[in-house]
Amino acid sequence: MTETLLDIKDVVVEYPPKGFRAKPFKAIKGVSLDIRPGETVGLVGESGSGKTTLGRSVLGLAPVTGGSIKYRGQEISNATRAQRRELSHEIQVVFQDPYTSLNPSMTIEQILTEPLTVRKMERQAANKRVAELLDQVRLPHDAAHRLPREFSGGQRQRVAIARALALDPKLIVCDEPVSALDLSTQARVMELFIEIQERTGVAYLFISHDLAVVRHLSHRVAVMYHGEIVEWGDGGQVTSAPEHPYTQRLLMAAPIPDPDRQAKHRADRLRLLGIQREQDVQAGFA
Ligand SMILES: Nc1ncnc2c1ncn2[C@@H]1O[C@H](COP(=O)(O)OP(=O)(O)OP(=O)(O)O)[C@@H](O)[C@H]1O
Ligand SMILES: [Mg+2]
Repeated sequence: MTETLLDIKDVVVEYPPKGFRAKPFKAIKGVSLDIRPGETVGLVGESGSGKTTLGRSVLGLAPVTGGSIKYRGQEISNATRAQRRELSHEIQVVFQDPYTSLNPSMTIEQILTEPLTVRKMERQAANKRVAELLDQVRLPHDAAHRLPREFSGGQRQRVAIARALALDPKLIVCDEPVSALDLSTQARVMELFIEIQERTGVAYLFISHDLAVVRHLSHRVAVMYHGEIVEWGDGGQVTSAPEHPYTQRLLMAAPIPDPDRQAKHRADRLRLLGIQREQDVQAGFA
């Protein structure tokens, strides 16, 4: 049996009611999935389906009201602040927007050194680690003395990845980390994620609304819809021959670069939409 790194079981997240007599809002309605060491699990779904909420529940940032989240067999959904601090060694996060997740007044060196000195690492060892981290994300060493605003979006995301890697975590929750980047930068940052995983054996919970991104990176894929997982399994299977109609629609909406495949894809999409709408599509209305 394969070892499990993270085991999410029947998790429910309810946001407290806003206003008098309002009911709590159930953003996650009993979700289960697991992540193995060194694995990438893709989490895909449309806006508002609950992807970020599930990622935040793993980080202890969402109000989990039911089910369990186990990290290496240990329940973490009710972890205390002190336990969370310990867990930050093991579980890290990279967000979509490095503009807001990196302190604008700190140099890259300060940003990368912070988690190390919190861990009481000696100055010299910390400097060495910063250089290593910059190498890992393929940034030049002189980047250390610059501020976040002096980098492009893709480079800034590399800094955010380096910071997440500083303490050598076993799992990184990646919430739309390439969604704000243009296509070629997106491809390079995705390659970086893969390369880092091959080198360090880190696992990813990789959240994206983009099926093409998830398909490229994930070993297994979960599809979320209205706070539930409607399809879960092998990445190739889920992203190329999905069984659930919702995933089929997501797949049809994902652009494919190859013109032949694009034509077939368009034909499939038309069939799915029904002959009725074909004329609309041809006339450019759909
Ligand atoms: N702090 C909060 N308080 C109340 N409701 C919230 C809160 N955060 C999220 N929600 C609601 O929970 C649902 C799921 O939101 P979530 O951000 O997890 O979706 P998502 O799949 O990440 O969407 P997107 O692709 O747009 O990032 C939404 O209906 C949202 O309005
Ligand atoms: Mg989100």
